[in-house]
Amino acid sequence: KRVGILLSGRGSNMMALVESELFDVALVASDKPDAPGIAWARDRGLATFALSPKGLGKAAYEGALDRALRDAGVEVIALAGYMRLLSDRFVADWRGRIVNIHPSLLPKYKGLDTHARAIAANDGVHGCSVHVVTEVLDGGAVLGQAEVPILAGDTPDTLAARVLVEEHRLYPKVLAEFVNR
Ligand code: GRF
Repeated sequence: KRVGILLSGRGSNMMALVESELFDVALVASDKPDAPGIAWARDRGLATFALSPKGLGKAAYEGALDRALRDAGVEVIALAGYMRLLSDRFVADWRGRIVNIHPSLLPKYKGLDTHARAIAANDGVHGCSVHVVTEVLDGGAVLGQAEVPILAGDTPDTLAARVLVEEHRLYPKVLAEFVNR
């Protein structure tokens, strides 16, 4: 199955997915034309699509994104640090075929600032989850998780770095199982 990856920033999870070579990455797309991840993908010779929704409106933006994904033959969409909410319409059009990686042990800490919230709650463990995307933010079925300990003296940044190592191991493995299911 051909995978399309959506990102908004650094793109380290996208790089881990590409470098795993476990599936065919047909398109790397971004809502931020200057995202470092999109430059990396372009340099690597991957097909890319970068379009800012600014001034376009959400429906027109998502229509263009949808067309680019379908033109590239994408069958499964992997969100990798894509910081924009997909509309209910888009999610319905791709139902059951969009996955995301979220930096918490879902159902804990949906949304933003997950590392700070796990530290503030005095949790002993934290981690990341790969899940199916539905209309409910960070709410779809969990496909796989990895745990890390929270250590004394951790800051959101040190904890995020520990979780990120696990994200890069977890996401390719779970996405490969998902696309080959
Ligand atoms: C990761 O922590 C991911 O879990 C979250 O956003 C971050 C993206 O980082 N959804 P990167 O762009 O993949 O480096």
